[in-house]
Amino acid sequence: MPIRIPLSAPDITEAEIAAVTAVLRTPRLSLGDELVEFESALAQFVGAEHCAAVSSGTAALHLALLATGIQPGDEVIVPSFTFVAVANAVRYVGAIPVFADIDPATLNLAPASVEAAITPRTRALIAVHTFGVPAPMSDLLEIARRHELKLIEDACESLGGEHHGRKLGSLGHAGVFGFYPNKQITTGEGGALVTSDPEIARRARMLRNQGRRATGDWFEHEEIGYNYRISEINCALGIAQLRRIDEILAKRANAAQKYFANLQNNSNLHLPPMQIAHGTISWFVYVVRLAERFRAQDRDRVTAELLSRGIACGRYFAPIHRQRAYRDAPHRCMDLQVTESVAARTLALPFFNQISSEQVDEVCSALRDALL
Ligand SMILES: Cc1ncc(COP(=O)(O)O)c(C=O)c1O
Repeated sequence: MPIRIPLSAPDITEAEIAAVTAVLRTPRLSLGDELVEFESALAQFVGAEHCAAVSSGTAALHLALLATGIQPGDEVIVPSFTFVAVANAVRYVGAIPVFADIDPATLNLAPASVEAAITPRTRALIAVHTFGVPAPMSDLLEIARRHELKLIEDACESLGGEHHGRKLGSLGHAGVFGFYPNKQITTGEGGALVTSDPEIARRARMLRNQGRRATGDWFEHEEIGYNYRISEINCALGIAQLRRIDEILAKRANAAQKYFANLQNNSNLHLPPMQIAHGTISWFVYVVRLAERFRAQDRDRVTAELLSRGIACGRYFAPIHRQRAYRDAPHRCMDLQVTESVAARTLALPFFNQISSEQVDEVCSALRDALL
């Protein structure tokens, strides 16, 4: 059965097409005005002083760890219930991911598990704002301050979300964003690091561009860097998308509201919170959880049934510590009871700006049938 209702879809208007086309009519396809404008628009939107746009969210995470000084053998506390890039970036710098457990209500890091994970080797903590729901930043910032840890916010899923009125990504030592096509805004592929620390910003900019200084010669390299540059074409797309951010966030909140209205009285499901006391959610995906009595096999059967009706859905997330890639990779696990229990029963439903009420109704009725 071909997919009729996709899991995600980018929202590209004529404005984006015109912006990209305009760049293609110039000779400048990298390191030009679009990069400067995209970075300053993002920094302003997030409320951070500096922004370095890069080729992916994963690259931004890698640079955040390098620029905050994380070294081989250091321990970095991360959730296991997240996208694999979070732990991979820790491994890229030779550090050890320590997987902490999550809060069952928000699916974000549980501060008590983070605190319990700290050892004399702990140097940093990556707070992921899972599915766009703000992590408990007051507690996490306090833990980081008390133990002198670097706090990196992974805001890849949460552009536009807020914690007590401050935009996510602006609260830690560095914040990272990703602009893959399923994100709130897309650049095709792309990412960004934001910070208010000029030294972190300087190092991130240098390392993304083969270790070159901003004002130096093209063939002079201060450090072993990377090619994590993002092209002018991607940046032009990002600028045009960011101009529409309010409209985009409102459409996504509206789609979430439609799902909530349709599914709220179903005792087979836990729905994501529509509101959170300490901030504002930026809707990334709509992930429901089957009730406790269901098992992973039930979730997989439901997924297959929706797929057989042409409705895409996803297993968000398969815990990182269970991945084959981590079988032999150095890491440490706290008690991950909530992670294990939740990850067996989560299911992401089709979620994108243009999803219609009819499509939401069709998904919900297929889901109800599959749960009978
Ligand atoms: C929490 C989180 N971190 C990092 C990434 C990596 O971003 P990218 O795919 O742009 O490398 C993603 C993207 O899917 C993500 O959801």
